[in-house]
Amino acid sequence: MQLHINDMTPETFLAEYWQKKPLVIRQGFKNFEDLLTPEEMAGLATNEMVESRRVSNKGGVWDAEFGPFESHEHLGDSEWTLIVQALNNWLPQSEALIQCFDFIPRWRLDDLMVSYGLPGGGVGPHIDLYDVFICQGSGSRRWRVGKKEGNTEFVAHPALLHVEQFEPILDIELNTGDILYLPSGYPHDGISLEPSMSFSVGYRTASSKEMFSALADHIIDSGQGEQRIDDPDRPMSKHSGLIDNQDFNRIKEQMLSTMNDTLISEFTGRFLTNSKCELDLPEQKFEFQIEDVLTQLEQQPLIRMGGLRCLYFENSYEQGIVYINGEQVILPHTLVSLIPRLCNLQELTNEVLADYLGNSDFQLLITDWVNSGYWYFDA
Ligand code: SIN
Ligand code: CO
Repeated sequence: MQLHINDMTPETFLAEYWQKKPLVIRQGFKNFEDLLTPEEMAGLATNEMVESRRVSNKGGVWDAEFGPFESHEHLGDSEWTLIVQALNNWLPQSEALIQCFDFIPRWRLDDLMVSYGLPGGGVGPHIDLYDVFICQGSGSRRWRVGKKEGNTEFVAHPALLHVEQFEPILDIELNTGDILYLPSGYPHDGISLEPSMSFSVGYRTASSKEMFSALADHIIDSGQGEQRIDDPDRPMSKHSGLIDNQDFNRIKEQMLSTMNDTLISEFTGRFLTNSKCELDLPEQKFEFQIEDVLTQLEQQPLIRMGGLRCLYFENSYEQGIVYINGEQVILPHTLVSLIPRLCNLQELTNEVLADYLGNSDFQLLITDWVNSGYWYFDA
């Protein structure tokens, strides 16, 4: 799968469009094929671990429900849409599509969402808080996009936040292989013109509110933040109700010194590698032995579980620090050069791992990861 951004380089795209303005990419993917069939998608939506949503607009009445869904028959063959989030957690083929957008780093990725729309189906005019590449699969959809400013949101249904009708700055039809890039905040409305599938590669960042809320838990769980203010040099107070500037600065310094680089990277590494949705991991660990893994590696590569997040920081990986699925892992010095391979590659082949195969620390780690389901051999 190869992405063509209208003869633009990724650098130009980033400089001129990313987070700035919408872009219609015609035939971004030549000969694009759906990553799954509507039947396979409906199958996923019956699974309670999979996040799915169904939106209908019958005769102007909006309805929205959350899955799992046993059947969609009662909805007929028009005016409804089925959505499955985090398709990348369940469908290995998703990775090939996401990789096309790897000029944006994975820590920014939210998920790959798929939607199947029947004629007239859509989720209604709305605003998203993420940037998205909406890749049109089979069928076609009409998309209208409005100006970023001056939109009013309202609750169209308890599970649907809509915006008032807007004057379109774009009114286009997407056909198979076309892509619509939308920065966050632009109101948009997509309506299927015929049974159609679209694959949305979404990017988001967390709000400070979300991060501080999780940071508080991290500080408590990791037993940090015990510092208190010492003030042996305190001058006499003339106004007992006053917090003077010197005291304000002590309090500020107490908080800021807690938030040092180590805490921030330890926290964000964990925070950003937490999977948003359930991962397809075994309930109980497998029982592979080191030899099983090494022998199997000679035959086939290890594949990273879809949706598993692995990240490393430029300023700490040389200390062996890597974050995998919400955990910090500290590798021995001899395995530092493994870290970029773990985090940047979807497949670990015998060749990629050649330098480490005889390393006993590596053997234990990789066997543990295989037993946890983090990396797997394709059956
Ligand atoms: C859809 O794909 O049906 C809706 C996607 C969106 O507009 O967020
Ligand atoms: Co949207």
